[in-house]
Amino acid sequence: MNNSTVHKLIIDTDPGIDDAMAIALACAHPQIELLGLTTVFGNVSVDLATRNALSILEQFGFADTPVATGAARPLVQKPLPHPDFVHGQDGMGNIELPAPEGKAQALDAADFIIEQANAHAGQISLVAVGPLTNIALALQRDPQLPLKLEKLVVMGGALDEPGNVSPVAEANFLGDPHAADKVFAVEWPATIVGLDVTHKVLLFDSDMDELQQRSAIYGDLLRRSSRFYIDFYSTTGAARDYPEPGCAMHDAAAVVCALHPEWFETVSGVVRVVEDGVAAGQLTMNRRGYRYLLDHWEGRPATSACVDLQVDAVKSCFINSLC
Ligand code: RIB
Ligand code: CA
Repeated sequence: MNNSTVHKLIIDTDPGIDDAMAIALACAHPQIELLGLTTVFGNVSVDLATRNALSILEQFGFADTPVATGAARPLVQKPLPHPDFVHGQDGMGNIELPAPEGKAQALDAADFIIEQANAHAGQISLVAVGPLTNIALALQRDPQLPLKLEKLVVMGGALDEPGNVSPVAEANFLGDPHAADKVFAVEWPATIVGLDVTHKVLLFDSDMDELQQRSAIYGDLLRRSSRFYIDFYSTTGAARDYPEPGCAMHDAAAVVCALHPEWFETVSGVVRVVEDGVAAGQLTMNRRGYRYLLDHWEGRPATSACVDLQVDAVKSCFINSLC
């Protein structure tokens, strides 16, 4: 990416403490034009996600950036309980964000995505960091959508890495496995940024303290909200091998991937997301291109999924962009 390229981004999000980090990066990075946020249920209800999105943007000085409210529930399955033990009752580490002054757009999330894709044909990076319900609905309403985007980057899934909500499932894909499976049934310029790589990008207390010192606009909110998240990682043992208390930088890694795909190593193959049963939410990929006895992986395009990344480059892109 040359230094003059400006990437137009829409982030589909369920803020969410690590979502706020992704939003901060999109606001702060000089080569990102954040066209808007679309909200979805997941870490919190969609109404709270919308409230948080509006408030986070106002706190970051981006009150004019549109927010469009999306799906309140998955396409098919019963909604899962919101993980308030991970993100807090308010979704932002219980830091009591000020109530937003602004309001969401009249258009819903799927229509906002379609409207923006038509207005900026081929120029938008759609970064999805929550359950994929809005993306599936937008695709349903406009099957040409994949041709109108520059790229789709999805934070979700786990190929070789264990899941974080079951031994095989990652939270966003389990949040709406039917939507995830529908999204990957068609040809997008898509990249999956899953736990295989996001579990390698760790933010420690010392990093969040540094941000609070060095980032006048973003540091305080991210430091305060991340305490709850880091406590969760520490108490559940997810961070047992970390050198100090910390957390994984899931959603911001997807924004970095939209800007610097060259920092990510991918594998490609037809993917299916298991829709129900004990393995619901599992991301599976036919990495060998075999024709198996079971033909669930036939007749679909290949999708790229990240298996490694340049950790230092990704992490410093996040930290330095905010300071
Ligand atoms: O599994 C991590 C993902 O689930 C992140 O997007 C986090 O915000 C939660 O939505
Ligand atoms: Ca998220």
